[in-house]
Amino acid sequence: MANRNTQLLNASCDKDVETALHILRAGGLVAVPTETVYGLAADAMNAAAVQGIFAAKGRPADHPLIVHIGSVAQLEDWASNIPDIAYQLAAAFWPGPLTLILDKAAEVPSAVTGGKSSVGVRVPAHRVLRELLQTARMGVAAPSANPYKRLSPTSAQQVYSQLAGRIDAVLDGGPCAVGLESTILDLTGAQLQVLREGPITARQIAALTGRAVLTPLQHDVAVPGNVAVHYQPHTPLYIASRRQILAALQERGSAIACVFYADTAGLTPTSIVRSLPERKASYAQQLYSTLHALDGMGVEAIWLERPPSAEGWGDVNDRLRRAGNAL
Ligand code: TXA
Ligand code: MG
Repeated sequence: MANRNTQLLNASCDKDVETALHILRAGGLVAVPTETVYGLAADAMNAAAVQGIFAAKGRPADHPLIVHIGSVAQLEDWASNIPDIAYQLAAAFWPGPLTLILDKAAEVPSAVTGGKSSVGVRVPAHRVLRELLQTARMGVAAPSANPYKRLSPTSAQQVYSQLAGRIDAVLDGGPCAVGLESTILDLTGAQLQVLREGPITARQIAALTGRAVLTPLQHDVAVPGNVAVHYQPHTPLYIASRRQILAALQERGSAIACVFYADTAGLTPTSIVRSLPERKASYAQQLYSTLHALDGMGVEAIWLERPPSAEGWGDVNDRLRRAGNAL
């Protein structure tokens, strides 16, 4: 696992994409671009390759992985007893940031599902990855390409700096367009349950299906991997009001980094005084990359202004709750 020679491959170069596929077919580990975050991929039918993911990430073996496929036509390769609603959701939201939890097909290795009888599946929206999976009719198991509990990467450079030497290649497909992990929706029970909030909201799912959708605060499915402490930068992160941040700045000055919401509170933006966009989609797209950048600045803490708690901001607030300390 350690001391692998990590190749940097370019997703806009056909030969590099072929190399990535070759490595995956041979049981290797390739970090791949998706629209949400970079994933650390292995051939999902190759149990030994999948075990390599857990070793590279330092992730506990009972945490199930998401299988990424090229199109809904591959769904029966991975899931069984597929309800009609799965096809309805797939037609509306795939390719895209929605993971469906379904009964697993018999052939799916238990290394992928953490020993569970269900499997998570999605069709990612990054064109190059999707075409690779479609052409090869392959499914890749891929958690976010970060060491266990750390921030998910939204660029190839972030993957490389966290996992170089532990994986075989990084396929650089540019910055992730969405920037936050997919919504996870459990279809195995009598009621629809969102297990992890994401870019596709419970309201959108309810509107499409006409069914009630339980949200994370209403369910208590113990899912390994759905842990309270998660997605953390190394530097302590405080989620605070603008007033609290301005007070902290007065006291600590440039010893701390600040991230304001929508504008910089009259301060001049610098490498450690930042702002994130007002619109939710752009905010989400830039959140992890901003935290990654500040995490490398050697400051004693990062203070981030609490974003809106309005409808549609659920996934952002979920990740911030896990990544930081509320003040
Ligand atoms: O956007 C995403 O979902 C990204 C990209 C790479 O696709 N992937 C990602 O994977 O965030 P990961 O492993 O960091 O998070 C997957 C989550 C975990 O919390 C895991 O517990 C849950 O999915 N999960 C996977 N299979 C499951 C299953 N069968 N039942 C319940 N939860 C499951
Ligand atoms: Mg993750």
